[in-house]
Amino acid sequence: MKTIIGGINEVPLGGKIISEGGLVAFPTETVYGLGANAFDAEAVKSIFIAKGRPQDNPLIVHIADISEAKNVAKFVPDTFYTLAEKFCPGPLTMILPKCDSLPLTTTGGLQTVGIRCPNHEMARALIRAAGCPIAAPSANISGKTSPTEARHVYEDMNGKIPLILDGGKTAVGIESTVLDLTKELPIVLRPGAVTVEMLAAVLGKVVNHKGEVIIAEAPGMKYKHYAPTCPCIGADTPKKATEEYNLLTASDTPVIIGSSDFVAACAPCRTISLGTTPAECTSNLFSTLRDAEKVYTYIILEWFPDSPEYFAINNRIHKSTASKCL
Ligand code: TXA
Ligand code: MG
Repeated sequence: MKTIIGGINEVPLGGKIISEGGLVAFPTETVYGLGANAFDAEAVKSIFIAKGRPQDNPLIVHIADISEAKNVAKFVPDTFYTLAEKFCPGPLTMILPKCDSLPLTTTGGLQTVGIRCPNHEMARALIRAAGCPIAAPSANISGKTSPTEARHVYEDMNGKIPLILDGGKTAVGIESTVLDLTKELPIVLRPGAVTVEMLAAVLGKVVNHKGEVIIAEAPGMKYKHYAPTCPCIGADTPKKATEEYNLLTASDTPVIIGSSDFVAACAPCRTISLGTTPAECTSNLFSTLRDAEKVYTYIILEWFPDSPEYFAINNRIHKSTASKCL
């Protein structure tokens, strides 16, 4: 088979090839895809053959508009639309239960489907020209890196497919973020340009690809709050605090602030005790910082142990020190 490389003018031809059961490689903003009609099991089978891809590895189904998700999914939850509003078209694939008419060949035998609306005009034009959603993995031979230029696709697919649409170098350069929305908590299966933090900011909670639950930061948490007006640095041992204190005395009037045991171990430096218990230290923190910044020019602040009773005070200490610790 002769493989031609075309541009925007060949999009209608690409649409025709796909609607007739053929394969077309096309650009997206992430990597190039190798597309077939998602509802045509025979056509989809030929993708697996061209790539040498295991049949149980599901394909992503590409749509030209978010409203088309309902044509491939059994149902579309509100979460999908909320995320789509923020990130689509874009490098995010969301997994939903598949509709009955979508072949299992497309989904690698799964009852779910990965859906993505790519942020590339040529990709969406091709989907519209084909008149169907396009199932497409990356357009490389299985096991090789994903193609980010038409010539990479040509290297792997020359002679196997009739048409490669050339849309230039892809902007993102790595594959989309894959997010499973079929579980109790959304799970990132593959990290990508839409980060877990970006998803958490919308969803509140999301599980990252390592299985850790990521919780959104409360609004404003990214700003430096509670900062004393003079420089402030953390120290997790009295020894480090004392050494820094001794260095600072050349140019500043420093003070060490911490729990009673911590500051006792810093003698003979100037110190202020916050108290003995975690609750006492917490309740005295802000007032002590306010008083200290009026008298001293540098504050060395104890970083408490990383245990639950100190989580709250440590959080404020991180803010005060902009997370700078000796
Ligand atoms: O950026 C991309 O996602 C590119 C462009 C062409 O859209 N496509 C891509 O496809 O990288 P592929 O087939 O190389 O990777 C798709 C990934 C695979 O890891 C696959 O297992 C996962 O998405 N995936 C697809 N559908 C799934 C499903 N229903 N359940 C779980 N994982 C799924
Ligand atoms: Mg791939």
